[in-house]
Amino acid sequence: MKKLLLAPGLALMLFIASCGGGGEETTETTASTEETTPEETAPPVWADIPGIENEEVTAMIELTGNDQMQFNDNLCKVEAGKEITLTLKNIGSLPAAAMSHNAVVLARGTDIQAFGQAAVAATETEHIPQDYKLDVIAHTKMLGPGESDEITFTLPEAGVYDFLCTFPGHFATMQGKIVAVAAE
Ligand code: CO
Repeated sequence: MKKLLLAPGLALMLFIASCGGGGEETTETTASTEETTPEETAPPVWADIPGIENEEVTAMIELTGNDQMQFNDNLCKVEAGKEITLTLKNIGSLPAAAMSHNAVVLARGTDIQAFGQAAVAATETEHIPQDYKLDVIAHTKMLGPGESDEITFTLPEAGVYDFLCTFPGHFATMQGKIVAVAAE
């Protein structure tokens, strides 16, 4: 009877010991594989964005917004660490209270859905949600028909940055991406 009780306990101990050893080995193997893989061979994070292969690097982004809640351009390529000039013109004719536009450039990794929803209530600050201030790299003024604004900013690191219009109801159709490539 004692033997029967002891055997499962022993087996369990052996199982735990082998699991622990195996886990450590796996971790070490993974780490050394990462070290020996050259970074140059990994495709950039923006490789899958449709149309990115047609974009030329620019330091001047010229956007328009229309009465159909559209930007003229939804994809741009710039150089990280270099000053960018962005202009936005509202080319529509509807009244400002019904159809205004801005362009807000977000830090990488910002939740654009959460940001866009928070922006709706930010009526005192031209729909720039103050709780998300640190996620805003740059933004234009909120522009009524015929108005325009110009901003300059620098994207700190290579990667994909979202931009959007935060006028209520607009960000679902008025958003785009700025891809910053590493400086040559
Ligand atoms: Co808009």
